[in-house]
Amino acid sequence: MLKSKVFLVSLVVAVALVASASIAMSAPILIKFSHVVAENTPKGQMANKFKQLIDERLAGKVAVEVFPNSQLFGDDKVLEAMALGDVQLAAPALSKFEKYTPSLQIFDLPFLFDDMAAVEKFQQGPVGQEMLMSMKKKGYIGLGYLHNGMKQISANSPLRVPADAKNKKFRIMTSDVLAAQYEAVGAMPLKKPFSEVFTLLQTKAIDGQENTWSNIYSKKFYEVQPYITETDHGVLDYLVVTSTEFWMGLPDDIRPQVKKALEDAIAFGNDVSAKKAEADRQKIIDSNRSEIIKLTKAERKLWIDAMKPVWSKFAGKIGQEKIDAAVASNN
Ligand code: SIN
Repeated sequence: MLKSKVFLVSLVVAVALVASASIAMSAPILIKFSHVVAENTPKGQMANKFKQLIDERLAGKVAVEVFPNSQLFGDDKVLEAMALGDVQLAAPALSKFEKYTPSLQIFDLPFLFDDMAAVEKFQQGPVGQEMLMSMKKKGYIGLGYLHNGMKQISANSPLRVPADAKNKKFRIMTSDVLAAQYEAVGAMPLKKPFSEVFTLLQTKAIDGQENTWSNIYSKKFYEVQPYITETDHGVLDYLVVTSTEFWMGLPDDIRPQVKKALEDAIAFGNDVSAKKAEADRQKIIDSNRSEIIKLTKAERKLWIDAMKPVWSKFAGKIGQEKIDAAVASNN
């Protein structure tokens, strides 16, 4: 009797030891973060910061692998891959969610935001926060906005007034709003992946493109585009996105810690974006490879007048009340 009791106790102890050992040894939750830009950009640095913070705060429980430069997926495939569980985190430009929600198209409306402070105010306000959840039913959750900055237009000939863009081919992100913006000045927009832009410009298959200073610098577009018009006509920001299934499947004690690390990494990335916009613009000037064209007030007004009719074309889809809220953020 005593023997069998001792045996039972030893068995229970052994099972407990094996169980705790296997918990201790169980593999950490893997978060693959895929993006398309270089590591020295705001998004690249934000992603690396997130990995660093997770390594410091959740070592052994969560591990992050970052894949920059479209190494794992381009933005055209990343959301499908996320739905299949092949990647857990991405931060595509807001322009690239058109297939999933019309509301985020607001960020593509030309000359909507005066500056990045207005963008930040709108994103952190009630409308911007509500939009984070606009794809929940489709299986995606927005975890936060990340800034890159205001966009400029580069070309192989000088662009001062809208007529200079007529019949020229411009690469755009996959957004009908951006297509309408170029059509409004008689240009020809082409939706192409970011990874193809340099070659398209270099081979002169296209005449120009629009992007932020950090993307124009880090991807060397300025080396193959002799003119950059400083239009500040639109914003290029990102939605840090995950799949609802992955996010809700995280253990309750882990999810808030991952969220906090993301928030801290986004704050870091936003700081980088503000500094890089200025620094990379200067590096381009110093390179003497590309002339930066500054518009007079009258010239800029011509671009605004030509492109602003795009707003009313998309107001029904996006929602006039959202556009009004965005305009109000300029004050
Ligand atoms: C990005 O900044 O993630 C890419 C932007 C683009 O496709 O032009």
